[in-house]
Amino acid sequence: MNLAQETFKSYNNQPFNTDLFDVKLVDASLGGLWRYHQFLPVDFKDAVTLGEGFTPLLQVKFFGKQVFVKQEQLFPTGSYKDRGASVLMSYAKKIGVRHVVQDSSGNAGCSIAAYAANAGIGCDIFVPAATSSAKLVQVRAYGANLVLVDGDREATAAAVLLAAQKSYYASHCYNPYFLQGTKTFAYEVCEQMGWKAPDVVVLPAGNGTLILGCYIGFKHLFESNVITKIPKIVAVQAVHCAPLYDAWKLGLNEPVRVNSGHTLAEGIAIAEPIRGKEMIDAVNKTQGVFVTVSDDEIISALKVCNLQGFYIEPTSAATIAGFMKAQAIVEGETWVTLFSGHGLKSTEKILAILDA
Ligand SMILES: Cc1ncc(COP(=O)(O)O)c(C=O)c1O
Repeated sequence: MNLAQETFKSYNNQPFNTDLFDVKLVDASLGGLWRYHQFLPVDFKDAVTLGEGFTPLLQVKFFGKQVFVKQEQLFPTGSYKDRGASVLMSYAKKIGVRHVVQDSSGNAGCSIAAYAANAGIGCDIFVPAATSSAKLVQVRAYGANLVLVDGDREATAAAVLLAAQKSYYASHCYNPYFLQGTKTFAYEVCEQMGWKAPDVVVLPAGNGTLILGCYIGFKHLFESNVITKIPKIVAVQAVHCAPLYDAWKLGLNEPVRVNSGHTLAEGIAIAEPIRGKEMIDAVNKTQGVFVTVSDDEIISALKVCNLQGFYIEPTSAATIAGFMKAQAIVEGETWVTLFSGHGLKSTEKILAILDA
């Protein structure tokens, strides 16, 4: 077994509470995602929280198509990764962790750095050297030690695995507590729709923190008879880095090896998603599909969003481009998607698009 497989195994063997979901146990006196604390693996009294969650679910029209869009760019650090970071760092604090390491394409690093700061836990964040500068500044501002790795996202993952032998690995990919936070996306969508599930949810497909969290959350609600169906998941990848789409198209259940090319969508440029098998399985179990989007499609989706007043980063626009594409191939009346990250994270990229 190599280091990555060993790490995966040791972090994955975590049994969570399987009590049925009961809407009467939702604590609506709490504004954010901790309203679901009865179904989270950490008590609310131990929560490390910056007031995250319960983001607005807005009805928006893109090219004449209606869709509900969760405003996940409005989180404390500017992306939905705060869902996972709040629950994971609450757990880390509770078990007495003093220092964590983490690797990311940027946003998860910002989230872990912010919640580590709030918890009084030291942290080292490893990112590819080419990460958007706003994200690097943000990580440093939270007082984290920023480690720039020459090379791609995979080189960064290899570097942190060594560091993780000496420190707690607060990984959004390996650590299952992170998915216990992202599952609240599904709870919120259903609560905001009057405890009903939409027909289709369109989600980004990088390391699968949202896809897998959503699958866990919707499945929990379904098995608890709160909702009557699990929505189809449309998983969006970038044309130049599509190990899951390529596998799924060939009918395979594991990601294929790809040479990742440049894409504007840095958050989903993951050539070797550690939970890739689980992601393909979740999409298939919901009768969902994978789609890919090109940089040109990302740019047009970004402009459509910007010109309606939504300032989002290019990775977020990839998901919206995926929504537009999926309309033609997936049936369903009610569609939900999200803006996954704030535009202020990618000023240079957006400037380059405007100036082109
Ligand atoms: C803005 C944004 N959207 C989407 C993603 C995709 O992540 P995942 O597939 O892990 O949910 C990321 C990952 O970093 C991101 O930063």
